[in-house]
Amino acid sequence: MDESRPETVVGSKSFTAVAVNCAAKAGEYIKMKLGTTGQPDFKYSRQDLVTEADKGAERLVRNLIATHFPDHSFLGEEGVEPGPEASAAALREALEAEYLWIVDPIDGTTNFVHGFPFFAVSIALARNGRVIVGVVYDPVRDELFVAERGKGAYVRGKRLKVSAERTLGESLLATGFSANPAVMRINAREASALVQKARNLRVCGSAALHLAYVAAGRLSGFWEHGLNAWDLAAGSLLVEEAGGRMSGVNGEPFDLRVRDVAASNGLIHDELLAALREVE
Ligand code: IPD
Ligand code: CA
Ligand code: CA
Repeated sequence: MDESRPETVVGSKSFTAVAVNCAAKAGEYIKMKLGTTGQPDFKYSRQDLVTEADKGAERLVRNLIATHFPDHSFLGEEGVEPGPEASAAALREALEAEYLWIVDPIDGTTNFVHGFPFFAVSIALARNGRVIVGVVYDPVRDELFVAERGKGAYVRGKRLKVSAERTLGESLLATGFSANPAVMRINAREASALVQKARNLRVCGSAALHLAYVAAGRLSGFWEHGLNAWDLAAGSLLVEEAGGRMSGVNGEPFDLRVRDVAASNGLIHDELLAALREVE
């Protein structure tokens, strides 16, 4: 690679431009499919849904990326067997690639199935295991959140900045309930404890959009257990580039293998982790 070029440009092609184009095309496709996909199929559990739109959007993104960057690797949710063990194994193998695209074609499939307008396309590019480009696109609001490592995060041309709350008491938090029933029980106990400490709690059903909202300062913090790299990769870069903090729920540094995550404006991070630790 030409060392004088930024890390996100190879030859004359910008990784970010391709990521944005893929997200826009996939977003348009899933919006067109909204309300037309009929009954979903079940994957790991009866709460883990998939539709034709998830598979079609992933195919579209995979083909476009292969056209631009045939040597790059690709990890998409719908190309991996359901369940936590299979996803961890797929990620381990995929992380050996120098360039790895990590894609969730619809983050928020349950919302998509029910017509609840909160879902997104999530596309990230990792180089040697570190995310360098992240795009989260909400086709309903036509909001495209984009981050490049070291260059900030933006939506509609406006630089993203995390919120300024300093305490949990002033914070609007979000969490998500995993489709894995055992994990869901832990989450329910934590949600019950945290809603009493925060200003309030939202559970909107898309981890990628929750992270984008932390980056945009619309949420003060977010946590969830049992997530996968495709839920988190793009959103984690948005949060970091907007001045926020990502970590595991036990405070360990964030990387793509971390499944139990906390994200925040940084200022409330330690208090959020401490409050989670207190939950039985
Ligand atoms: C799900 C969403 C949801 C979160 C689940 C994820 P999917 O992704 O991010 O908000 O609570 O844990 O699995 O299945 O809609 O891509
Ligand atoms: Ca997801
Ligand atoms: Ca998905």
